Amino acid sequence: MNQFLSTLVFAAAALLVALGLAQPANAQPAGSQQSGPVGAVAPALSEPATGAVRGQNIFDVQPDASTEAGYRDQTNGERAKVQPGNNAPMWRQVAAGATGYSSLPVSEAPEAGNLIQGFVKYPFMRETNAGEAWRQVRNRWILPYGAALLGIVVLTLALFFVAKGPLGRKHPESERKFERFTPFERAAHWSNAFAFVVLAISGLVMAFGKFFLLPVLGLSITGWLAYALKYVHNFMGPLFAVSLAIIIVIFVKDNIATLADFRWLTRLGGLLGDEQLPSHRFNAGEKGLFWWGVTLPGVVVVGSGLVLDKLIPGLGELRGQMQLAHMLHASLALWMVALIIGHIYMGTIGMRGAYRAMKTGYVTEGWADEHHKLWADDIRAGRIPAQRSNDLNPAPERPAAPLQA
Ligand code: HEM
Repeated sequence: MNQFLSTLVFAAAALLVALGLAQPANAQPAGSQQSGPVGAVAPALSEPATGAVRGQNIFDVQPDASTEAGYRDQTNGERAKVQPGNNAPMWRQVAAGATGYSSLPVSEAPEAGNLIQGFVKYPFMRETNAGEAWRQVRNRWILPYGAALLGIVVLTLALFFVAKGPLGRKHPESERKFERFTPFERAAHWSNAFAFVVLAISGLVMAFGKFFLLPVLGLSITGWLAYALKYVHNFMGPLFAVSLAIIIVIFVKDNIATLADFRWLTRLGGLLGDEQLPSHRFNAGEKGLFWWGVTLPGVVVVGSGLVLDKLIPGLGELRGQMQLAHMLHASLALWMVALIIGHIYMGTIGMRGAYRAMKTGYVTEGWADEHHKLWADDIRAGRIPAQRSNDLNPAPERPAAPLQA
């Protein structure tokens, strides 16, 4: 009896469940369309389940929906119905620079909702998203033209040296000496020069290492080297910034253009002939380097470097700011390297006696007359002291060497 009762209950329950499941299909309103490969049978879950997680309705799925009109204009929601897992409409919007929702606070993550930046149009380039445009500026403009500039400078100086040799005459060491650079000026100059050379080498390895080091050293060593040099670059930056500020302040007074500089420039200072044109403490070439090769690009390179290191509050959080900072930093740094290569040439093998001036601080009267006649005249007239610092070991006491190198 018990067994009969339980069989009856089970059969009734099964009937109720079957009826219950069939109900929505029967309740389908007349005229509603169900598209799908399996015909017009109404699916049980096609009604929106508000407030609940909804599964994919298998009857909506259309693997060949791409052939239908309006397929390209579907929203991501529409696409997900017919082709679950196909998020192309969303990614198309992302690629077009659309900003979506992010729960992160804008103050902390201003671009969190925007995966790919909007489109920009740089001169001579096709319109593309800002990230790609920046990549192209770096790889197609800054690096190749920067490398070409450096190559041209080195080649020109090499040809100039072969053609002319070192400029200037030799002067007897016995002559009277003028103090050209005080110990403080030399310390500032050499600190700046040291920092610049380290920054230039590390920067060049970061920019061009993959072209000239990777084939020789291999992936691991080049990678580690670039990684280490990036830290060296970051830590050398502050020394360069501080020493740059000092040399700008201490040399600016003598780098203001005068009438003599225009005369000097019209004949290229006489560099191509045998006689140099008279100049004050620095000639027009040196003044040009001071303003266009050191001060102006130096300030921008230091400023953009601080942005890249996120050391300036409020700058460097946005990708656009980083891209602009990088483009300015890299192009002006390469410009500086090109000009400073010329400066190093003139300060060493290109001009007799120049290096000694910066090494010892003193030049002979003959050297001063030959290269900076107006400055030497001012010293002889007492307008500028021949000895400006309290150097403990001024020039006259130095053991005499036969001739300046
Ligand atoms: C590393 C190699 C360098 C060498 C061998 C070198 C050599 C020299 C020499 C010999 C002078 C004296 C020129 C004269 O008596 O008229 C000088 C001046 C000067 N150097 Fe350098 N230098 C070097 C790097 C640098 C760097 C990296 C900078 C700046 C970024 C720089 C900025 C200056 C300035 C501002 C002057 C004073 C001349 C002027 O104001 O026009 N030097 N250097």
